[in-house]
Amino acid sequence: MPGEPKNNDVSQVIRALQETGIITAEEVERCRVDSDKTDTPELAPDALERLVANGSVTAKQIDRMRTQLAAEKDRQIPGYQLLDKLGEGAMARVFKARQISLDRIVAIKVLPQRYMSDAQFVDRFYAEGRAAAKLNPPNIVQAFDVGQAGDFHYFVMEYVEGDTVYDHLQQRGRYDEADALNIITQIAEALRHAHEKGFIHRDVKPKNIMITTDGVAKLADMGLARQATDTEAAEAESGRAYGTPYYISPEQIRGEVDVDFRADIYSLGATYYHMLTGRVPFDGPNPSAVMRRHLRQTLVPPDHVNAKLSSGISAIIEMMMAKDRQERYASTADLLDDLHAVGDGGPPLQARRNFDFRDLVQLEGSMGPEIPNPAREVPPLLTEQPLFWVAVASLTFNAILVIVLVLLVIRGA
Ligand SMILES: Nc1ncnc2c1ncn2[C@@H]1O[C@H](COP(=O)(O)OP(=O)(O)O)[C@@H](O)[C@H]1O
Ligand SMILES: [Mg+2]
Repeated sequence: MPGEPKNNDVSQVIRALQETGIITAEEVERCRVDSDKTDTPELAPDALERLVANGSVTAKQIDRMRTQLAAEKDRQIPGYQLLDKLGEGAMARVFKARQISLDRIVAIKVLPQRYMSDAQFVDRFYAEGRAAAKLNPPNIVQAFDVGQAGDFHYFVMEYVEGDTVYDHLQQRGRYDEADALNIITQIAEALRHAHEKGFIHRDVKPKNIMITTDGVAKLADMGLARQATDTEAAEAESGRAYGTPYYISPEQIRGEVDVDFRADIYSLGATYYHMLTGRVPFDGPNPSAVMRRHLRQTLVPPDHVNAKLSSGISAIIEMMMAKDRQERYASTADLLDDLHAVGDGGPPLQARRNFDFRDLVQLEGSMGPEIPNPAREVPPLLTEQPLFWVAVASLTFNAILVIVLVLLVIRGA
């Protein structure tokens, strides 16, 4: 049929409708095939028709959105010639472009128009972008420029020819230990440099690690201010390419204001875990279940998922992913010391395990060394247990009784 939209057009329109608040995330979820699956369920080809039939959106609104999206494609940024669309993430679209003055290829991240209205965000976007442009170690995707053209903002950066770690995980599953160590060490170097200059990335994840065709690992999105809180940003991805907050630190989930470099160490640890085991450290049917597990579920040690892993690497990841950031590395330089020690064939200098759980299992003789990643149920909080409240009530009652008796005795005496 002429003019029949392709499915990627459908998902673009739906995404834009959701971004502008015309439809909700739940309405989008109802348009997926196999919506009970946790892995990236596809949008149904007739998703837009379903939304219209449900009364979530009108055909006119869809037409208007299509026109707007087409206009976006034709937009101009003075000094640059937009070439291709490279991809899109939770917050923005990324284009390949030619910077005309220097005749070089760059990548430009274009933010949705809706961010314009938040003056505070716009200020932060420029301040962080300018500061990031001063960082240029080899393992950070270099930020070049920030600017505004017409009614949108953009962030110009080094164009990286290559794939992300996310793409590799999709294509070939987990990494072998030496390759993963090499990549993680390069990214830890990038973070050490940034942390020493006072930058915190806040969104370290496989999609933000690019591998050039020469095998250099580069951390992307450094210095890119984020609009929403970390949890909102992470949730905004849910159901998208690789959604849900798989790599976010517990303190970011709790919305703590003094998030520091240790949040990046946690996220790098979660990324490392995924690279070595082929599994995310905590999974769940929805973003809030995943986040609850980051907060409360005990991590299944990576060498219990992949028995081939060295226990030194496992101990490093467990230390990176300690729920209490005080138990993580005290600096990114310390983490690098451990990565180098293991790279040189020795044990880590700092990461130690309290006891080797595998030995315990072998002693019991009931299980093999490989334990599947169980959705170990989170025990309820103390305050969630009825007996706790019974105990509190009876203790309070007893205390009052004692006070009354003491008063009576004093009066009587
Ligand atoms: N500097 C770059 N050079 C080449 N491709 C890039 C660059 N930055 C991002 N991309 C591509 O665009 C995609 C979307 O990027 P981004 O919007 O940052 O997504 P996310 O929010 O998931 O980090 C990436 O997965 C990557 O494939
Ligand atoms: Mg990115």
